[in-house]
Amino acid sequence: MPALFPPSSNRTIRLTLAVAGAAIVGIPLALMAWVRTPAITGQHSAPAQPIPFDHRIHVTGLQIDCRYCHSTVERAAPAGIPATAVCVPCHSQVWRDGPVFAPVRHSLATGRPIPWQRVNSLPDFVFFNHAIHVRKGVGCETCHGRVDRMARVEQAAPLTMSWCLDCHRGPERYLRPVEQVTTMGWQPPGGQAVLGRELARRYQVSRLTNCSACHR
Ligand code: HEC
Ligand code: HEC
Ligand code: HEC
Ligand code: HEC
Ligand code: HEC
Repeated sequence: MPALFPPSSNRTIRLTLAVAGAAIVGIPLALMAWVRTPAITGQHSAPAQPIPFDHRIHVTGLQIDCRYCHSTVERAAPAGIPATAVCVPCHSQVWRDGPVFAPVRHSLATGRPIPWQRVNSLPDFVFFNHAIHVRKGVGCETCHGRVDRMARVEQAAPLTMSWCLDCHRGPERYLRPVEQVTTMGWQPPGGQAVLGRELARRYQVSRLTNCSACHR
């Protein structure tokens, strides 16, 4: 009786099993890697703004503190985008003619805010609060990067759940004195390890990893 399967079918079966095995492991891994790519998380995206507002001029050049414009950052959930009135004292001379300031003029004439585009944005089912972070010594730079060097603000962090949790599992690695939260390019004197532990004690920082902290 001739063999039911030719000898070469062994190789075919092995090959098929190998490919199937690779797909079972590989496809989910590829998907998991894909949802973490900047294209999906929006990391590094920098949407165009109605006015080319440049943080380098205002923060690095003029040394204006972040809180002058983002004035609710220490006491509320949102940091706050400045009202048009905040721009006026300094720009009352320039805005009148320059085409760049047309949206400022329009906003003042109509009373409607300048339509700034959001850069950092979490889904609605996530609870986030600026005040608690800033008051416990997490600097703007830690989450937003070197804004003082950005001609146009970009999303510096991935803003994924694992990114939040990485810090929440050991926040002492990132803490700085509260007086330095808006400083750009701050370096821990004497190293982060010692200072971080000391600050975590002083500010009574806990490790918040329970789901209800961020999903309520
Ligand atoms: C003179 C006012 C002013 C100052 C000072 C200022 N900002 Fe801003 N900031 C703005 C305006 C206006 C926008 C909205 C337009 C834009 O995105 O550029 C903005 C946007 C941002 C955004 C993006 C908001 C979003 O939609 O996610 C971040 C982050 C930010 N600023 C951080 C900072 C930090 C950190 C500092 C201090 C180092 C700072 N800003 C200082 C006016 C200011
Ligand atoms: C404390 C004063 C101050 C405040 C507040 C301020 N600016 Fe400015 N801004 C300046 C100065 C000074 C310059 C540099 C002007 C120059 O070099 O010609 C400037 C430059 C600019 C430029 C670039 C101008 C150009 O010709 O390209 C824009 C756009 C601008 N500011 C928008 C804003 C907006 C929008 C706000 C409000 C959110 C604001 N500024 C708040 C002082 C200020
Ligand atoms: C722990 C990380 C973290 C720190 C620290 C932090 N931010 Fe944010 N910021 C975020 C996240 C996340 C969002 C998006 C929030 C949302 O969509 O609800 C955001 C949004 C913003 C926005 C736009 C919307 C709003 O909230 O009004 C501004 C402006 C801003 N941050 C400025 C600042 C400034 C200035 C500081 C420092 C004084 C700071 N942030 C510190 C994470 C942080
Ligand atoms: C670099 C560190 C860091 C990052 C990144 C970070 N957090 Fe936090 N978070 C903290 C610290 C520190 C506290 C204060 C803990 C305490 O009060 O003991 C805190 C507190 C909170 C609280 C306060 C809970 C309450 O009891 O009111 C919420 C909510 C929160 N974080 C959400 C988030 C979310 C959502 C993200 C990501 C988008 C995030 N955090 C990213 C460090 C961080
Ligand atoms: C420190 C804040 C924080 C904590 C604690 C946290 N989450 Fe999340 N979670 C987030 C953020 C931020 C997102 C949105 C991520 C995104 O848009 O990519 C998210 C998204 C999710 C999603 C939507 C699916 C996804 O992955 O995008 C689920 C489900 C979820 N979280 C479940 C949980 C559970 C269960 C726990 C407790 C074990 C938990 N989370 C704890 C911040 C947190």
